[in-house]
Amino acid sequence: MAWCALRSRLLPLVAAPQLLRLLSSTAAQRHAHHRRRRLAPTVYAAAAAAVETPPRIARATRHPGGAASVARVYADANTHRPKEYWDYESLDIQWGEQDGYEVLRKLGRGKYSEVFEGFRPGSDERCVIKILKPVKKKKIKREIKILQNLYGGPNIVKLLDVVRDNESKTPSLIFEYVNNTDFKVLYPKLLDYDIRYYIYELLKALDYCHSRGIMHRDVKPHNIMIDHEKRQLCLIDWGLAEFYHPKMEYNARVASRCYKGPELLVDLLDYDYSLDLWSLGCMFAAMIFRVDPFFSGQDNYDQLVKITEVLGTEDFYSYLGKYGLQLDSQLERLVGRHNRKPWLMFVNSGNKHLASPEAIDLVDRLLRYDHQERPTAKETMAHPYFNPVRST
Ligand SMILES: Nc1ncnc2c1ncn2[C@@H]1O[C@H](COP(=O)(O)OP(=O)(O)O)[C@@H](O)[C@H]1O
Ligand SMILES: [Mg+2]
Repeated sequence: MAWCALRSRLLPLVAAPQLLRLLSSTAAQRHAHHRRRRLAPTVYAAAAAAVETPPRIARATRHPGGAASVARVYADANTHRPKEYWDYESLDIQWGEQDGYEVLRKLGRGKYSEVFEGFRPGSDERCVIKILKPVKKKKIKREIKILQNLYGGPNIVKLLDVVRDNESKTPSLIFEYVNNTDFKVLYPKLLDYDIRYYIYELLKALDYCHSRGIMHRDVKPHNIMIDHEKRQLCLIDWGLAEFYHPKMEYNARVASRCYKGPELLVDLLDYDYSLDLWSLGCMFAAMIFRVDPFFSGQDNYDQLVKITEVLGTEDFYSYLGKYGLQLDSQLERLVGRHNRKPWLMFVNSGNKHLASPEAIDLVDRLLRYDHQERPTAKETMAHPYFNPVRST
């Protein structure tokens, strides 16, 4: 559709720059209000906190005898690059003018942002305006630096501009727009070949970022935009992504619950790129077995329980042993003992056209407790499951 036609159709919705200003300041105010409320010692706040956060069980202790963990590939990706590449804290952000963008409609709302479709007057291109909720400057710099480093990589969302509201100083990131179909609508319609194709496209993005020393740490359908008409996939939301440095210990509070790897659930902190292959495995299992999400825990402890109910506890305890992890006794009781379930148990008449033997073989390789056993993104791309995609 010509831009002028699109524009006249959408004109009543077009927001003036003032509205964008208002949107970014209300996002900031709402957060400030929320913070104030959180700090107020009210019974309500305490009660809400008790409901939301299950009592924290120390998950596991690492003994000195356990194996240290270093990525099998691209371990030195950052060591070989100049300090400016990975030292995101010294990034000097060049802020553009927020008034240069106008809002068309709201696209989504994440934990860390409110996202709008917009445009730049005078340009034909639609764009995405991600207004960031107040977070540490360091986190904003990390997201920007990573997006700049990965700019132009296969199926990586392009960061076009970084702007700030003059008054509230609320930062917004401007991205290329992807005409996404909600995964809850799209995935059930995908054919066997489509799933192979899109997973392969996602692997291209993952191998690219890993080869550049970056783990995404939040792979899930909500962060994967698909323009099905153009058959274009785009990996977005680099807000939790991080640079990989061998032997570095990272925060376990990354990724969304259903996509969290066992390493995060047992506090193994020297994890690496292979975390993204677990998350991809969860997505893939959900797609081929048509069970979404595939591992659906009520909280992080229950998430581990759900995983062990499928993969069994025997391999789980050998994994803990390898890395010298001693599970907390309360958590050990929760986990209990389970036999490994054969993957064929998940095949039924509704999914057998998707859950082919090659698909099941791939799921089995990706969903391994031991992150070092999982294939890398590159190795996964070489799996026979993708033969039909590679040959076209
Ligand atoms: N480039 C884009 N094209 C289309 N929709 C997008 C784009 N970027 C973000 N969105 C929408 O906004 C939502 C939130 O964006 P995201 O970057 O994931 O922020 P958060 O860190 O808050 O989760 C996404 O789940 C998606 O629905
Ligand atoms: Mg997101």
